[in-house]
Amino acid sequence: MRIPDHAVINETVAATRALKKPWARGLVNAVLRKIAADDNAPERSVELPEWLQAAIEVTFPEQADALTAATTERAPMSLRVNVRRTTPEAYRSRLTGAGIAFETGYLPEHLVLDRPVPARDLPGHAQGLVSIQDAGAQLLTRLLPEGLDPRARILDACAAPGGKLFQLAERLPDAELVGVERSPERLTTLRQEAERLGHGAVQLVQGDATGRDWPGSEQSFDLILLDAPCSGTGTLRRHPDIKILRRPEDLDSYHALQLSLLTNLWPLVKPGGTLIYCTCSLLTRENDEVIDAFLETPHAEGQPPAPAGNLDLPTGVPTRHGWQLLPLPAGTDPPNLSVDGFYFARMTRREKAR
Ligand SMILES: C[S@@+](CC[C@H](N)C(=O)[O-])C[C@H]1O[C@@H](n2cnc3c(N)ncnc32)[C@H](O)[C@@H]1O
Repeated sequence: MRIPDHAVINETVAATRALKKPWARGLVNAVLRKIAADDNAPERSVELPEWLQAAIEVTFPEQADALTAATTERAPMSLRVNVRRTTPEAYRSRLTGAGIAFETGYLPEHLVLDRPVPARDLPGHAQGLVSIQDAGAQLLTRLLPEGLDPRARILDACAAPGGKLFQLAERLPDAELVGVERSPERLTTLRQEAERLGHGAVQLVQGDATGRDWPGSEQSFDLILLDAPCSGTGTLRRHPDIKILRRPEDLDSYHALQLSLLTNLWPLVKPGGTLIYCTCSLLTRENDEVIDAFLETPHAEGQPPAPAGNLDLPTGVPTRHGWQLLPLPAGTDPPNLSVDGFYFARMTRREKAR
């Protein structure tokens, strides 16, 4: 929504040719011009639907007003320097040389731009020196279990477009990484990202992580990341269309899918290993309630999960089973900690039956 109206209109009209729908050219042009000329047309200030407003108020009574206000703001643009290809210092000099102002983040490789720029204008983007990744997503590295073997076997079960998987590849260069993705189109994007960033050693496979019919599932993992499909309600600053498109009944479908993924993947965690469940949702139905339902499920081999009670991140709030990052209005947090609304829960597989 930062692209000028005339560019949006031209590009969208041009897309009718690419889509082989030349008859739609005049219609698309007329509709978009009318919207652009209408001062009352909805923009990012679209109100939250009642059901979502109510769910946020119930879950975060203290922060609900701030969370609602933040949904109309523009999210900051946050970068992750690819430490396998350059150093944070060298990349900061490249940005300064290109006249792009930034602040340093809470991790050495994390930078926050003063103003967003197109990816193609980032120095070395095509050469894989840097990725665009939200500050909250980057906090995943704070959740890695202490004493994780640098050569650990790690699965990202819902991997595309690869932000967290390639962050792990950069942090843990000797780890054996497997990324599973159900959508063939998104797998293609994932492969392109692996090539851009130089992460050819990461094994990328197409598969449905609610089942075991994918290469790699015959062995267990020291760490599994389940970054589950969700309502995206923690990312309303970036995706205001969610306010219009999401329906309350979607939450039950997501809950069922999240629980099915979690239950299927759990037996693939080595005894003593860890599973990190995360979503970009603010809603307890997709977060703590999924963990509640999972803890009630009988588990194979008498090795039930032990949720970590001691998650501690530089921003956000603890929940019953995990930690919730909150997207608050600018100025509430230091800019380098302005985050999308992520939920993280970490569970360890016990070595022996209780
Ligand atoms: C929240 S996104 C993952 C984001 C990614 N981890 C990152 O950090 O860039 C969820 C992904 O899971 C994929 N997905 C959905 N259902 C799946 C399933 N049953 N098995 C594997 N992948 C699935 C979606 O296509 C989507 O790419």
